[in-house]
Amino acid sequence: MVVFGAAGDLAKRLLIPSLYNLTRDGLLDKGFRLLGVDHNDFDDQSFQTEQTRFIHAVAADKTSEFGKAKLSEPTWKRLCGELGFMKGDFEDPATYQALGQRIGQTANVLFYLATSPRFFGDIVEQLAKAGLTKQARGWRRVVIEKPFGHDLASAKALNRRILKVLGEDQIFRIDHFLGKETVQNIMVTRFANGLFEPIWNRDHIDHVQITASETVGVEDRGAFYDATGALRDMTPNHMFQLLSMIAMEPPNSFDAEAVRTEKARVIDAIKLQTPTQALHNSVRGQYHAGACAGRRLVDYRQEPRVARDSRTETYVALKLEIDNWRWAGVPFYIRTGKALSARDTEIAIAFKPAPTVLFRDQPVSTLPPSGLVLQIQPNEGISLHFGAKVPGEEMRISGVDMDFCYADWFKTGPATGYETLLYDAMTGDQTLFQRADNIEFGWRAVQPFLNAWAKGGVVHGYKAGSEGPAAAATLLERDGRAWRPLGT
Ligand code: BG6
Repeated sequence: MVVFGAAGDLAKRLLIPSLYNLTRDGLLDKGFRLLGVDHNDFDDQSFQTEQTRFIHAVAADKTSEFGKAKLSEPTWKRLCGELGFMKGDFEDPATYQALGQRIGQTANVLFYLATSPRFFGDIVEQLAKAGLTKQARGWRRVVIEKPFGHDLASAKALNRRILKVLGEDQIFRIDHFLGKETVQNIMVTRFANGLFEPIWNRDHIDHVQITASETVGVEDRGAFYDATGALRDMTPNHMFQLLSMIAMEPPNSFDAEAVRTEKARVIDAIKLQTPTQALHNSVRGQYHAGACAGRRLVDYRQEPRVARDSRTETYVALKLEIDNWRWAGVPFYIRTGKALSARDTEIAIAFKPAPTVLFRDQPVSTLPPSGLVLQIQPNEGISLHFGAKVPGEEMRISGVDMDFCYADWFKTGPATGYETLLYDAMTGDQTLFQRADNIEFGWRAVQPFLNAWAKGGVVHGYKAGSEGPAAAATLLERDGRAWRPLGT
């Protein structure tokens, strides 16, 4: 495995800990070696020392997923001994010549691009030019991190560039949300149970809410985030992965192409909004100072490396429609943001209410809506909300919950979420990776919002630690609906 950007944050926080977990589980081949490539002055020895220092720090942090397990020294030593480093400039052809020599006769190589996105196209072209992507004796695959493009045109251009030198079967466009167990379980919930599928459509579902709220601010990513914003950072990728899992048609099989085809089809069916609709159906927000999860956050505009007059959104809410037979007329409300009152990623399916006719002589004007909530993180689980009679002489109905909680049923070892993705890339399973068309359909669906916002519209303020801008509530209230409170 060759990791470009090996001295960066992603490599040490996620890739190396995931490889450690794969080593622990006996899922890495004996001949596995990792070669890091970056601008820094490490050699094999100092790279190993640095990674050892860092993994101990992560393991000591009991709030991190990784830190929940005890680090086994013999396991770490085994992996650490396989780590190497090569200093190199990503744009210099000499780097690829030297890399070719280090790789030598190795048959199978996974190139992992954990660099700034501006290098993606260059690295792939240079690898190909140096003959390193030729699959003569084994396989050669390239994993590309997000963001894949910053709008439709740039995503298309990048796809064109890399597809000139690689086959689609060599490209693994990563979206780490697909590494989450709860996201993979959406397909199992829907398709391994006869219970849900018959009611999973416009006849029975009133609307769908997809939420990814975070309590953190932009932290030390101001430069990246200010040029990106919540829409680009989360929507065409993570939010649409959740949307496609929940809304796709059943694939003919669990074969990677069958699954990827259905996911792409449903994203293709997202209705493209006119400029007026795009403004009407979106709300942008930016956080102001406030207290969030016990920490004080400053105004977004005061965060390091953020422009003092920035109009970048740290919150976005959208109303989308999927124009196909299953979903026509069912709104999909999506919201994501930073500095909010709770960390909460969930998908809520609201079912149509029952007719109240049976209860017309009772003091019941509306029945509590029933719904299914897939809690992606934290407190991973699934809950069914429905109405039940409150014990007593009068007919009163109250909403109650039936809960399934992962932690109660399954004992799983701590994981970063990248283990499955790395394992799949090495075994050549592309199911959890995005195909070119899927990426482009995603950007195409958000492009009308980017275009409309570039011309104007309001960026609403919201207090850090709140549920987001008041205007986001209006987006649903005008349809007679309401967001589920965050963190419930
Ligand atoms: C990343 C975004 O892709 O996903 C971040 O760039 C965001 O801004 C993160 O915080 C959320 O991922 P998770 O797994 O913490 O929900």
